[in-house]
Amino acid sequence: MSTPMDLAGKHIVLGLSGGIACYKAADFTRELVKAGATVQVVMTEAAEQFITPVTLQALSNRSVYTSQWDAREPNAMAHINLTRDADAVVIAPASADLMAKLAQGRADDLLSLMCLARPLLSCPLLLAPAMNREMWAHPATQRNVAQLRADGTLVLGPGNGDQACGEIGDGRMLEPAELFAELVAFFQPKVLRGKRVLISAGPTFEPIDPVRGITNHSSGKMGFAIARAAAEAGASVMLIAGPVHLPTPRNVRRIDVTTARQMFDAVTGAASAHDVFIATAAVADWRPASFNDHKIKKQPGEKSPPSLELTENPDILAAVARLPAAPYCVGFAAESHDLLKHAREKRVRKGVPLIVANLGPATFGQDDNALTLVDANGERELPRADKLTLARQLVAEIAARLGAKA
Ligand code: CTP
Repeated sequence: MSTPMDLAGKHIVLGLSGGIACYKAADFTRELVKAGATVQVVMTEAAEQFITPVTLQALSNRSVYTSQWDAREPNAMAHINLTRDADAVVIAPASADLMAKLAQGRADDLLSLMCLARPLLSCPLLLAPAMNREMWAHPATQRNVAQLRADGTLVLGPGNGDQACGEIGDGRMLEPAELFAELVAFFQPKVLRGKRVLISAGPTFEPIDPVRGITNHSSGKMGFAIARAAAEAGASVMLIAGPVHLPTPRNVRRIDVTTARQMFDAVTGAASAHDVFIATAAVADWRPASFNDHKIKKQPGEKSPPSLELTENPDILAAVARLPAAPYCVGFAAESHDLLKHAREKRVRKGVPLIVANLGPATFGQDDNALTLVDANGERELPRADKLTLARQLVAEIAARLGAKA
């Protein structure tokens, strides 16, 4: 998916403490710069054992700070100056030793000193722990993590899996792409904090026999982008996905289904426990009336092809909108012509407060789209943009409507 310049205008101070995961900080720096951030790297002496400042200088295009005695600063106060224009300090990797220091407010090198001296309200601190699983699980480390969280620090991960030492468990630093997604999410406004959002996405597949079926061109990209945007906005998100080839957005719970009836069961079973239902799925309107257990074979000398009898699938969105404890329902309308007319009719027919209309052929499989929001008060255009940008705008529109309803 094409991504917007998610960190344009942001200034990030990236701290590295000692650990083998320092090699991942190089990729992370590249991602930050590519997304429009300016990056100032600060390294501890131990970090310099794992990666050179030259590498990080080249990637960040700024000279790296390693010492509180750095003579480059006119006032000799690098530990103060570095965070005054920063939007966040991110420490990746954060070693067990560094976290112990920060938890105690110790300040015997530039990185810890700078963290202590940063303006608490304007410069948040995010840590990406990286260490052996025993070190992570040790009560001393867990005590320090709890203290850091209580002090307002955001702890990213750690991940789980193979470790450089050969052991397997918790303590791996998150991958650069995961750290990047967490940081981008961190900066999004939390307009759906505390809300539960249910989303259907992708096509459905209606089997004819064991090797054939009826489906459509929906890629699921819009629904997955909305799931990501809702999670970034602080919602707890459940995504019911038809057969698609897309990675699950971070912090989203995903349930895979195949047919419209499976999607119906999954969605209606979960709907009443949610505040919002966004139906982006391109549900097959019909399915074969019967399923052939064996592959339908061509018969020698057959005069006409076999005919396929179809039966209608249940309308998931309309069913959810009729529930006694219905969530706020948002439908999608993919049309080929007369977009507004069909969208207005569909809103009334399905009994939902908001319909998002788009031109089917212009969106299926594409990375960008244009949307028209249709509600009881009229229409609003969201002009052509990448799907994640549109998803964030849609999330803000839904949040505003929830606020107006509350
Ligand atoms: N939808 C659904 N269950 C169905 C069919 C549609 O939940 N069985 C939802 C879609 O997820 C979408 C909205 O209803 O949010 C509109 O779907 P669409 O297929 O465009 O509308 P239809 O009512 O099927 O009308 P038509 O196909 O005639 O345009």
